[in-house]
Order: sequence, then structure tokens, then C-alpha cells
Amino acid sequence: MTERGLFVTLEGGEGCGKSTQMRLLMERLRREGYTVTGNVEPGGTRIGKQIRAILLGAENLELSSPAELLLFFASRAQAVEQLIHPALEAGHVVVSDRFTDSSFAYQGVARGLGEPWIRDLEAIACGGLKPALTLCLDIDVEAGLARARARNLESTGKETRLDDESLAFHRKVREAYHLLMAREPERVRRIDAAPGIETVAQEIWNQLMPFLDAGSVLR
Ligand code: TYD
Repeated sequence: MTERGLFVTLEGGEGCGKSTQMRLLMERLRREGYTVTGNVEPGGTRIGKQIRAILLGAENLELSSPAELLLFFASRAQAVEQLIHPALEAGHVVVSDRFTDSSFAYQGVARGLGEPWIRDLEAIACGGLKPALTLCLDIDVEAGLARARARNLESTGKETRLDDESLAFHRKVREAYHLLMAREPERVRRIDAAPGIETVAQEIWNQLMPFLDAGSVLR
């Protein structure tokens, strides 16, 4: 695939501050004159939003693990075709709040579905598309869950099906991300999510800068 642009993803467990950092990163990229496209998973497209409602709905407790896996990839397939590929071809910096690494960590490892299914579906849904850089916000599981649950109390509290999983589940998610960092150190970078918002944002920027300088991105 000969693509221009730059594909960057943000990953991490519950309550790691990813959504805030996503917003700050998009703002900074725009301030610095880059053309930016954002995606969020699940739900970056109109169809993806409908899939998101099924996936995260607190009432959908009977959703089977394979159905869950397929729905995450269905949302992703739609975003890849409708949003991500066109933006990359146009030379944008594409920032995605979660991507295939989430399916690896949550469904492949924490749910125990195994890596082969993830890789097979990745081939179908993403056609070989991988992020050039993945910034993984790492935080102690208990601290992250406490933050996420406090946030859920303030919101409508309807998108909590996965936040409500056990501590053991979320520990496995974190271990899976650590495995990816060890396996692909060039692509998957650990960002300490414990310090304040500004410190984390600066660290994200520092990691991203060399990729912006090297890529053929539009300004
Ligand atoms: P969201 O409200 O976007 O949470 P967060 O701010 O933590 O990203 O919900 C996304 C949830 O879906 C989150 O618990 C992680 C989970 N998820 C998977 O289990 N597999 C996936 O492939 C993706 C993209 C997300």
C-alpha cells in the first residue's frame, strides 16, 4: 500500500485519560498547521455509532464474546474504508482513539479468544493497515478504574458494559499492552499516564514529532 499521511493511534486501559489526550493532540496538530482527521473506536462513522450502541450498552449483557469481537471489527472495517484510507490518501494525520490493538488486548487476551482470530479479522477489516505509531497510555489498573467509574457516574452511565468487567479482566488488558510494547517497541510506545494532563500531552508530542518530520503529511 502506497499511502501518504500518517496513521497514529492512542491506546490504553480504562480511565487512562485517553479521550482528553486525544482532544489535546488534535488541537495541537491543528495549531501547528497539520490537516488532521480523527477517528474513535468503536463509532467513528455513522454506522459505527450504531454498532457502538450495541457494544457498550450496559443492558446488552448477553452479547456473546465472538459477536462482540465481530462487531468491534465491523465498526473498524467501516471506519477504514469510509474515513481512514481516504484521509491518509489525502495526506492527513489520522489519529484514532483505539484500533486493532484494543481488540488484541480486550478480546484476544482478556476475553481469551486468542490472537489468531484477531489477526484473521485484522486482515479482513483493515487490509494490512497498521498504525505507524501507537501511543499507549499506561496507568495502574485500580487507579484507572476508579477514574473511569467516577466519570460514568457523572455521565448518562449507559456505556459501561466493558468498564464493569472485573479487576482481573482489566489487569489482563494492561498485560496485553505491555506485551505489545515489548514485541513492537518501535511502533508501540509507553506513555506514563500518571502525571498531570499537560505533562502527558507533552510526552505524547515528543514521541510523535519525529514521525511528523519524517512523513509526507499535509500542512
Ligand atoms: P469508550 O467509552 O470509548 O472507553 P475508553 O474511553 O476507555 O476508550 O469505550 C470503549 C470500550 O470498548 C473500552 O472499554 C474498550 C473497549 N474496546 C474493546 O473491548 N475492543 C475494541 O476493539 C475496542 C476498539 C474497544
